[in-house]
Amino acid sequence: SQPSSIEVNGRTFTTDSWFNAPANVLASTARQLHLQKDHPICITRQILESVYPRPTFKSHNTFHPVVSTHENFDSLGFPPDHPGRNRSDTYYINKNTLLRTHTSAHQASLFRASESDGYLISADVYRRDEVDRTHYPVFHQMEGARVWDRKKVPNGDIVAAVYADLERLPKHNVKVEDPNPPFHAERNPLQSEHHSPAEAEAVATHLKRSLELMVVEIFSRAKAAAAKADPDYVDEPLRVRWVEAYFPFTSPSWELEIYYQGDWLEVLGSGVTKQDLFTNAGVPSQLGWAFGIGLDRIAMLLFQIPDIRLFWSTDERFLNQFTGVSDNLDSLKRFVPFSKYPACYKDVSFWLRSTSAAGGNTKASVQDWHENDLMEVVRNIAGHDVEDVKLVDEFSHPKTGRRSMCYRINYRSLERTLTNSETNQLHSEVTKALVNKLGVEIR
Ligand code: PHE
Repeated sequence: SQPSSIEVNGRTFTTDSWFNAPANVLASTARQLHLQKDHPICITRQILESVYPRPTFKSHNTFHPVVSTHENFDSLGFPPDHPGRNRSDTYYINKNTLLRTHTSAHQASLFRASESDGYLISADVYRRDEVDRTHYPVFHQMEGARVWDRKKVPNGDIVAAVYADLERLPKHNVKVEDPNPPFHAERNPLQSEHHSPAEAEAVATHLKRSLELMVVEIFSRAKAAAAKADPDYVDEPLRVRWVEAYFPFTSPSWELEIYYQGDWLEVLGSGVTKQDLFTNAGVPSQLGWAFGIGLDRIAMLLFQIPDIRLFWSTDERFLNQFTGVSDNLDSLKRFVPFSKYPACYKDVSFWLRSTSAAGGNTKASVQDWHENDLMEVVRNIAGHDVEDVKLVDEFSHPKTGRRSMCYRINYRSLERTLTNSETNQLHSEVTKALVNKLGVEIR
């Protein structure tokens, strides 16, 4: 039943045994929400682009979603056994070709092209993942980078050039916490063969100030929208912090977190680009920083959109709320929810398949279980009518060693009330598909 070749946005690819991209995911490649005028994802991109102006930053918004395994992983220094490469996490077209899992897949080619001192890339990205209100197999990222060339800055003095540019950036008065030391011996060493400590510090300082400006811009817009919606709105001071992180292609590396509704929320990943990327791209005299930010979560926060599935809605009650905002970003308003339709919870319990015909008192070994496979089966059948899937019970039989799981599925449409018979029908199709596709045994 698997096609031997598929077309994605006008390009044809041959599939092989690695192919695991469902039709609904492939169909999403045509949507390009980040380019759809007046769509919240597009508006969010426009707001972030306004923080990083031309000509220093050049925007790229139409890169094709299919990239090579090399571009997505190898070129960025991902080790061969990195879990992100697994078919349980990533959508493959064939062994060497996949749907990009992040916009970083385009870093190497842009460093090689070296067209500007900085770039921004906005695009749809694809990951196999859980089902809930903040996860969808397709989401959007903006990637950015800022570089300097040792051969081009005055006297080859990177430190002076970086601080001179920093002087030109807007100031902000948000208090930023930065508790961790920037370097860590294993995760985030100084790239001492390539950077002096002063250079690394200058680039890191520039990175932090530049990315803080983005968060300040988002929050001032979010607050303005909140105040419009609620005249009694009390402005709380923004809290922001830098946390040491790990990425295979930056050192040192950080995540930026903001304090939001009682929790620290991670908004972006960033770091000083590993020099190998520049060397391999034929521009060894360059150095700089890069970041990646998820647009969907930011849009949810800006517009107070409660469910990620709404971005894919073609319902006028959703889309009409943002008319005109692309042309006038100051007219941004909060989303006004249409009434929530009722939830319908259904459980499914099953035994995992035993893979060896274990006789006597030997415990049966149990099939490899990847929760994302179940998530995908449910998503493929219920489409936008599933809100959430959660493991609610799990145990191993003490004698046979067989493993049993129980998942709770919440069926709920964003657009109407699902009838009883519809949800029963969906659930019975899901149950059948779990048996046919994953080989589990329903209890
Ligand atoms: N690509 C990373 C992610 O998806 C984010 C990132 C981009 C981190 C650039 C550092 C530099 O998580």
